[in-house]
Amino acid sequence: MAPHSSLLFILAVACFSSLISPATSQTCSTQNVLSAEKTPFQTCLDLPELESYLHYTYNATNSSLSVAFVATPSRSDGWIAWAINPAATTMSGSQAFLAYGSGPGAPPVVKTYNISGYNLTEGRLAFDFWNLRAESLHGGRIAIFATVKVPAGAGSVNQVWQVGGNVTNGRVGVHPFSPPNLNSRAVLNLTGTTGAGGGGSKTPGNAGWMTTNVNFGVNLGVLVLLGTIFIF
Ligand SMILES: *[C@@H]1O[C@H](CO)[C@@H](O)[C@H](O)[C@H]1NC(C)=O
Ligand SMILES: *[C@@H]1O[C@H](CO)[C@@H](O)[C@H](O)[C@H]1NC(C)=O
Ligand SMILES: *[C@@H]1O[C@H](CO)[C@@H](O)[C@H](O)[C@H]1NC(C)=O
Ligand SMILES: *[C@@H]1O[C@H](CO)[C@@H](O)[C@H](O)[C@H]1NC(C)=O
Ligand SMILES: *[C@@H]1O[C@H](CO)[C@@H](O)[C@H](O)[C@H]1NC(C)=O
Ligand SMILES: *[C@@H]1O[C@H](CO)[C@@H](O)[C@H](O)[C@H]1NC(C)=O
Repeated sequence: MAPHSSLLFILAVACFSSLISPATSQTCSTQNVLSAEKTPFQTCLDLPELESYLHYTYNATNSSLSVAFVATPSRSDGWIAWAINPAATTMSGSQAFLAYGSGPGAPPVVKTYNISGYNLTEGRLAFDFWNLRAESLHGGRIAIFATVKVPAGAGSVNQVWQVGGNVTNGRVGVHPFSPPNLNSRAVLNLTGTTGAGGGGSKTPGNAGWMTTNVNFGVNLGVLVLLGTIFIF
């Protein structure tokens, strides 16, 4: 029994380390994405779906949120998008920045869409924005940069993001309907702590919070399973 308990202890330590790892093993923190001022963003998040990343800085004085959204189109003629939905947590009503490649050597095209259905048409957004541009990163990734005005005093915004289908003659094809494409939305807490763990990582609906809890559940499951194996 003694070797078993020490093995269990080691496993418990290993599981505990993996439980606290989300704060230290963020992919976004290795991406070296810089703001328009050529400085790193205050916070970044590994978003919970579609291998997407959000770098952001909130300036409460100016009620402005600067973001860089990073994702990889699923095909060379595909698109990516990041949006704020001022009214709901759904796709419908989202005010989106959408980008797609425009050929080798040229920067990606980035446009705005006021989304009301799957047939996306370029349009005005409900809020002010500036510094909008897109950049190709290595590995086929695209970064969308923008600064948006959020309502004064807003504690959070509803963010929606997507990795879509093709773009044919400037018309944006629908995105796939797999679970990650349908679950790619979260509340972004603007006033949470901005340490290594990401903005407000204990807030429900926040990506960091969800990662931690998923890991905790998996680790607990592994421990219970191992306990059962060693007892019988
Ligand atoms: C926030 O916005 C205010 C008002 O425009 C500006 O003076 C200040 O420099 C900004 N702060 C940062 C950190 O960019
Ligand atoms: C503050 O917001 C205004 C738009 O409301 C914008 O023109 C200006 O550039 C912003 N200042 C900073 C420092 O972001
Ligand atoms: C999508 O909208 C465009 C422009 O509004 C229109 O020309 C096109 O027929 C629409 N496509 C579909 C499939 O509804
Ligand atoms: C966005 O689209 C909706 C629905 O078509 C419309 O009611 C709204 O006025 C549009 N917003 C802007 C800023 O054009
Ligand atoms: C683009 O995507 C649409 C919708 O999924 C599909 O109907 C169309 O055949 C695709 N076009 C190309 C050129 O792949
Ligand atoms: C954001 O996070 C802070 C600190 O964790 C918390 O006090 C606040 O209630 C959160 N705000 C929202 C809108 O979730």
